[in-house]
Amino acid sequence: MHILHVVGARPNFMKAAPVLRALREFSNVRQTLVHTGQHYDAGMSDVFFRQLDMPEPDLNLSVGSSSQAQQTAEVISRFEPVVLERKPDWVLVYGDVNSTVAAALVCSKLQISVAHVEAGLRSRDRTMPEEINRLVTDRLSDLLFTPSSDADDNLRQEGISPDKIHLVGNVMIDTLVRLLPQAKMPLELAGLDPFVLVTLHRPANVDDLPWLRQMLAALVEVSRDLHVLFPVHPRTSKRLAEAGVLPPENSKLRLLPPLPYLEFLALQSNARAVITDSGGMQEETSYLGVPCLTVRENTERPITLTEGTNMLVGRDIARLRTELQRVLTNPAARPCTIPLWDGHAAERIAKILVVTKS
Ligand code: UD1
Repeated sequence: MHILHVVGARPNFMKAAPVLRALREFSNVRQTLVHTGQHYDAGMSDVFFRQLDMPEPDLNLSVGSSSQAQQTAEVISRFEPVVLERKPDWVLVYGDVNSTVAAALVCSKLQISVAHVEAGLRSRDRTMPEEINRLVTDRLSDLLFTPSSDADDNLRQEGISPDKIHLVGNVMIDTLVRLLPQAKMPLELAGLDPFVLVTLHRPANVDDLPWLRQMLAALVEVSRDLHVLFPVHPRTSKRLAEAGVLPPENSKLRLLPPLPYLEFLALQSNARAVITDSGGMQEETSYLGVPCLTVRENTERPITLTEGTNMLVGRDIARLRTELQRVLTNPAARPCTIPLWDGHAAERIAKILVVTKS
């Protein structure tokens, strides 16, 4: 059996790594790894392949960055000949990035079976490009691997046949469970305690420059009481330069480059609290029991609100301040109890894939 994986952007890598690893156990499975090149910087891509112990991609489509439509179209036109030539039995797509939906579209038109890992998540906010990607990818997929039961409910409500849906758990947590013992604080940050970890990269937060300036001012204020570490995504870095804002030299707010997986995981697990708009970090902090304040009005991962440590603070600086104060003064760490977030989701996926085509 030939299984072809498509990855493109940073959050795909930690999801695909455990599935590639689990499928290696099956001697009748041959695997191909295609990188679309949506993320191309060494710090956004190469270092993740090394730390996650992923094989070199068999092919890199080098699509790079452009508008939503152009980036998606580039993946479509460059991926189609690959599928035609390699004729895989299954194509696996991950998460909700532009590369995911583009690859699913190619496969469905060529009648190649496609399986979506991390299916069924819904923010119900169609201003997010990721929500469009999720809806379309799930509609087109032949197998849908979900991380939590709310995702199954969403898919059933959309009329997707229940026999395509498999609740397998969270593959991103598989990677976290495997690599947490190796997570290490970057040397130059070791000993900084207490600290809050910040990441922001969603267009809704960082492309709105007046809002971005307000956020940065709020973080400078937080840094009067404790260290604030902010690894900056390339999109955010460009916007900060456009907005012309930098933290004052003497502040304890540190802007850092994007960090490799192991260093970033160490920061997450040692942080007093996390402020973010990332999807994956809502899950990782829930697993780690670290309070997470999400700077968004909605989430496609509601289970992290009800059974994890996540809280939506919206676009409200006053609320962010109050909630941060609350979690810092009253840290109520809870162990993660979300079913199937146990480090074995990828093994379940591998078994289902192998059985389905044999
Ligand atoms: C993408 C995903 C988002 C995911 C995020 C994680 C979509 C629609 N969005 O957003 O869901 O949470 O990745 O990082 O697919 N850039 C670089 N170097 C790189 C990659 C990007 O400089 O290696 C710059 C590009 O020039 C571009 C900006 O970052 O201007 C955005 O990149 P893009 O891949 O379009 O979207 P992300 O914001 O990274």
